[in-house]
Amino acid sequence: MPIDRVKTGIPGLDEILHGGVPRRNIVLLAGGPGTGKSIFGQQYLYNGLVNGEGGVLVALEEHPVQIRLNMAQFKWNVRPFEEKGIFAMVDCFTGGIGEAARREKYVVKDPTDVHLLIDVLKEAIKDVDAKRVVIDSVSTLYLTKPAIARSVVMLLKRVLSGLGCTSILVSQVSVTERGFGGPGVEHAADGIIRLDLDEVEGELVRSLIVWKMRGTSHSMRRHPFEITDRGIIIYSDKVVKYSSRRIGISVL
Ligand SMILES: Nc1ncnc2c1ncn2[C@@H]1O[C@H](COP(=O)(O)OP(=O)(O)OP(=O)(O)O)[C@@H](O)[C@H]1O
Ligand SMILES: [Mg+2]
Repeated sequence: MPIDRVKTGIPGLDEILHGGVPRRNIVLLAGGPGTGKSIFGQQYLYNGLVNGEGGVLVALEEHPVQIRLNMAQFKWNVRPFEEKGIFAMVDCFTGGIGEAARREKYVVKDPTDVHLLIDVLKEAIKDVDAKRVVIDSVSTLYLTKPAIARSVVMLLKRVLSGLGCTSILVSQVSVTERGFGGPGVEHAADGIIRLDLDEVEGELVRSLIVWKMRGTSHSMRRHPFEITDRGIIIYSDKVVKYSSRRIGISVL
């Protein structure tokens, strides 16, 4: 029987994943600052919405109002989907403070309380019948308490997978870090996608590599990608080669 997959709809990515993300997988999306993690997550959710799949975005890093504005820049207007009841934003950013926050339906006043967050998240998932969930970023939940990182991710995995969601957990790593967010979370996640930004001869080059994806084969190559005014485009037919002296892009 072919495995059930969720098509990300991000140009090039489903080819790299040999058809899409296996359903119920928890994917760690790791990368340094400005590598495109938030845009990737938003694009993944929006592509589900236009196909009638419910989605939830857990906002820990940016104001929900700012996120809606950013998404609208890419023509990903989520308001109609919120009104239709298939998209929900879980506000873990404002702490319920401010005029704009009072208009949010799902507010977590204390995001350091993971159990409280999970209660609100579960409610949002059920309300919109979410098939896709993005947490931006999961690192925020254990930044000051690295010892609990694995248990937080395992708890999220049980809940999200149990409710039938295919999820992206954004993981922040520093510019120089080679890993994906620490051993605890790296092994707990079903998949790891890493986004990179490297300076080559005075120019920044974006690339993506799928490090692991349980339940499927996938490209083992590093692919270049771009962020355009329509979102991320990955070139599955091109590969980025690192060598000690230079980085080159070649067509497969
Ligand atoms: N309309 C656009 N066209 C092209 N590139 C864009 C556009 N909007 C944003 N970008 C690029 O995307 C980057 C931001 O991407 P994003 O917010 O997804 O990064 P991030 O990985 O979430 O970073 P952080 O960890 O700091 O939150 C910007 O630095 C810019 O280079
Ligand atoms: Mg971000």
